[in-house]
Amino acid sequence: MLTPHDLKIHKLLRLFSPLVRPIVNIPARRRLRKAVNIADLRLCAESRLHKMCFGYLDSGGDDEITIRRNKDAYTQLEMHFKVLSGLSPPLDLSTTIFGSKVDIPFFASPTAGNKMFHMDGESAVATASKVNNSVYCLSSLATTSVDDIAKILTPEHPKLFQVYVWKDRDILRDILGKAKAGGIQTMALTVDFSWYGNRERDIRNNFTIPPSYSLQQCIEAIKAPAWTWDFLSNPPYNYALLDKDVPADSLASFVNSQLYPQFSWEDAKWLCEEWTHGPKAIKGICRPEDAVKALECGFTTIWVSNHGGRQLDTSPATIDVLPAIRKAVGPNVEVIHDGGIQRGTDIAKAIALGADGVAIGKPYLYGLAAGGTPGVLRTFDILRIELDRAMGLLGCGTIEELKKEGPELIKRREMSLRDCQGARYSKAGMI
Ligand code: LAC
Repeated sequence: MLTPHDLKIHKLLRLFSPLVRPIVNIPARRRLRKAVNIADLRLCAESRLHKMCFGYLDSGGDDEITIRRNKDAYTQLEMHFKVLSGLSPPLDLSTTIFGSKVDIPFFASPTAGNKMFHMDGESAVATASKVNNSVYCLSSLATTSVDDIAKILTPEHPKLFQVYVWKDRDILRDILGKAKAGGIQTMALTVDFSWYGNRERDIRNNFTIPPSYSLQQCIEAIKAPAWTWDFLSNPPYNYALLDKDVPADSLASFVNSQLYPQFSWEDAKWLCEEWTHGPKAIKGICRPEDAVKALECGFTTIWVSNHGGRQLDTSPATIDVLPAIRKAVGPNVEVIHDGGIQRGTDIAKAIALGADGVAIGKPYLYGLAAGGTPGVLRTFDILRIELDRAMGLLGCGTIEELKKEGPELIKRREMSLRDCQGARYSKAGMI
């Protein structure tokens, strides 16, 4: 079946974009202006996106228990704050990540196909990284090329390139070569994605990129006019780092054909030997023994992650395993943490419990889906301001101080029997 893109209708629609785009985006802009936290941005994203794209962004493996667990685990950690620390706002949130000085200790994780959420795509995220002077991460499944990212970020700007455990060493070598030629300093190997996670929302929504033009997808497209206008009035996107003849709609089959469950520590060692000019991170570590093995294999950074709860459901909350991993690798190895970050207090807790840097995934994609570049900038602003306030109220003026005093300041909440029974309410309140 010929699609509107095959018929080049986007070229015609593009002529009307200056008029139509601002109009169809009025509700999204209004909602974005009113968003005060990451949970609000999630609702903004849901309202603007095609249903199947929101489902892909928001979902996790099986029953999505790990997604909830990742978030809930921060609430079990109490902040035992110090008072009258004499700090003056805004605090200095700068630190060093992947060997580069950055202004904030958090950054956007590599995520696939950003143009699926908003045509600003990866460029929006690169712009937010530039404005905030934080690390920029490019996924192997990005819809924007290394060259286009280089137009936004200076050669010195800290950049990371992410790769999966793929079968074809030539493809791996080729994309690593492109990343290196584009001036990317750090490489990260994602190791928790050797099987495709079971995302049941995607199955129910018949998730395809782009939409299949079935009745179901067309009805959903009509319900999301801002997203649909963006999609129909722009050229079709593709996976910019892969061979040009891998169209976006064959992503799932391409990924499935390339995923290599047999990828072993030996293959990881080979990959480390291929990347000699900068830091090497292993992303998706949940066990202390694996962290130690990764260092022996040649990695320089341990990235504690369970893929945002998108892979093996009922795996532990990352914040619960972080302290043991920090203990196993000692104080001098770089540790990155991600999973379930919703608040500045969550970021402060991760740093206090052993992280050198904290990555966010869904929060910035909600921002992107909610309103392109201004939406991603809003995500960064929300979390930066919340982190500044959390550290100020905690009585820690710098990231160094937070790391040093962290274990004393952040403690696990003692559970009472009543917590386990669940709260009971009377007319007078909770009893
Ligand atoms: C995902 C992969 C593509 O989580 O990283 O969907």
